[in-house]
Amino acid sequence: MAPSTDMSRFHQTLHKSKHIICVAGAGLSAASGVPTFRGAGGLWRSYNALDLATPQSFAKDPSRVWQFYHMRREKACSCPPNPAQMALAKLFVPDLLSTLSPGATFTLITQNVDGLSLRALRDLTANPQLECPPNLIEMHGRLFDTICTACGEERENLDSPIAPALAGTEGIVEAQEDEPDIPLELLPRCGQCGGLLRPGVVWFGEVPKRLEEIDVLAKEADLCLVVGTSAIVYPAAGIADTVRQEGGKVAVFNLEGTPADKRANFRFLGPCEETLPKALFGGLEPEMMLQEG
Ligand code: APR
Repeated sequence: MAPSTDMSRFHQTLHKSKHIICVAGAGLSAASGVPTFRGAGGLWRSYNALDLATPQSFAKDPSRVWQFYHMRREKACSCPPNPAQMALAKLFVPDLLSTLSPGATFTLITQNVDGLSLRALRDLTANPQLECPPNLIEMHGRLFDTICTACGEERENLDSPIAPALAGTEGIVEAQEDEPDIPLELLPRCGQCGGLLRPGVVWFGEVPKRLEEIDVLAKEADLCLVVGTSAIVYPAAGIADTVRQEGGKVAVFNLEGTPADKRANFRFLGPCEETLPKALFGGLEPEMMLQEG
């Protein structure tokens, strides 16, 4: 059966859901100005993923890989959270989540590494120091984390640029001109042991984070929002399958059709920065809903 596009039926489902999860992809950040991977202007249309997003490509050419991730860090930190991220951030606030379904739980499982969902939550709560809550799962890691290839230390690093030698290379990478070959000793180094750092993202061929927890969440979810993902990269693409198999409902928010549609009970085509706030809060500001209640 074709997925429903009926917003009021979606609201009925939302209001009775007790365990809500959201699986998000690059389309969630598109309105902020962060490029997606596969759509028009997508990164993997202009750059070869296998040259830049695998452990092997980093071992072969760390200078090139670091310049690519430096460019993405610089872009992400200059992009503000958008209305779809702000709407999801509200679901982390128990009083606001309760206006949708009293006593419900919410977990955001994002494939995005740009940190914008946490920034949206920090903006919403006016707390720039807020730690990442446990129910925000960044399953593909974080652009702003580094991992030491020698001692294994993993830590947040918000420096811009992350190493002086990378300053200005973002323009070269974006223009797809020949990038300089930066010597190893000038690439980002560990503050503890001096080893070479790598970006704290999950590359192709590596295991995404917190998979066991995600499986448990998918099995107990009665509603899964699938937002702005092409739904072709596994294991993230399989989360909605698990939800459906276990009897939960799936609602897809995307600009266009994706393989996730075949598991969808609801599908809202259009920019998620418009459809998602409407679907969650019906166009009403939740602060107003709180006052009314
Ligand atoms: N609103 C809703 N959907 C959008 C919007 C928008 N404003 N803009 C783009 N989209 C949709 C596109 O139609 C597409 O289906 O977002 C999706 C983006 O797909 P991808 O670029 O493939 O991104 P994603 O699904 O997150 O990719 C998964 O692939 O390379 C890896 O690790 C990377 O986490 C990433 C993974």
